[in-house]
Amino acid sequence: MNDSRKTKFVSFEGIDGCGKSTLMDRLAGWLTEAGVPNIRVREPGGTAIGEKIRDILLDPASSEMIGRAEVLLYSASRAQLTWQVIVPAMEKGAWVLADRFVDATFAYQGFGRGFDLEHLGMIQRWATGGLMPDKTVLLDCDVDLATSRLSGRDGLDRDRIEREEGAFHRKVRDGYLALAGKEPARFLVLDASKPLEEVVEDFRKRFWLVEIGG
Ligand code: TMP
Repeated sequence: MNDSRKTKFVSFEGIDGCGKSTLMDRLAGWLTEAGVPNIRVREPGGTAIGEKIRDILLDPASSEMIGRAEVLLYSASRAQLTWQVIVPAMEKGAWVLADRFVDATFAYQGFGRGFDLEHLGMIQRWATGGLMPDKTVLLDCDVDLATSRLSGRDGLDRDRIEREEGAFHRKVRDGYLALAGKEPARFLVLDASKPLEEVVEDFRKRFWLVEIGG
């Protein structure tokens, strides 16, 4: 495969339960089969420090967390991941597949919690040096469907963010769609309410075959 093309940093976004991991597994598999080095990272987390931050952020016991602290902790985890893992991997020519990146902060903390998008943008640019994904795959589906897919987990197994009410997740979903509407060239929106294999097939046709050329 000719890998001189620009698309190398791909983020996957969507509300909790939308099915990001399967798509990421497939893309990693296709790249590896084609002999293209790739790494997979997740947010929050992806580094030893980031995983500790993840524990603080997602622990239901962190219920008293202030929204501004939440923004900064997600951004701190992202800064660590960007400079410790993503930038070095891209410099070596590897593809980076990210389970969430800056758009998650705009969708969850911006549209979900109501923080000003410009302020969030400034913090993101500082944390990441302005690094943005070449392509962002948004798995869009109805909040009730996504919630029912949360591995059949009952409420007690859900993390602090997953425990937010439906109205919060609906704001996040609408936020993601608004972000995609603003940047149609970067976003690829997939209908994730379809059966999984159909979503994978859409992704293969609309991303792999178009961007990569098979
Ligand atoms: P995950 O369940 O996809 O691993 O993501 C962890 C949770 O953190 C998920 O509910 C989305 C949320 N989140 C934010 O609220 N802001 C962010 O910037 C990121 C990366 C995730």
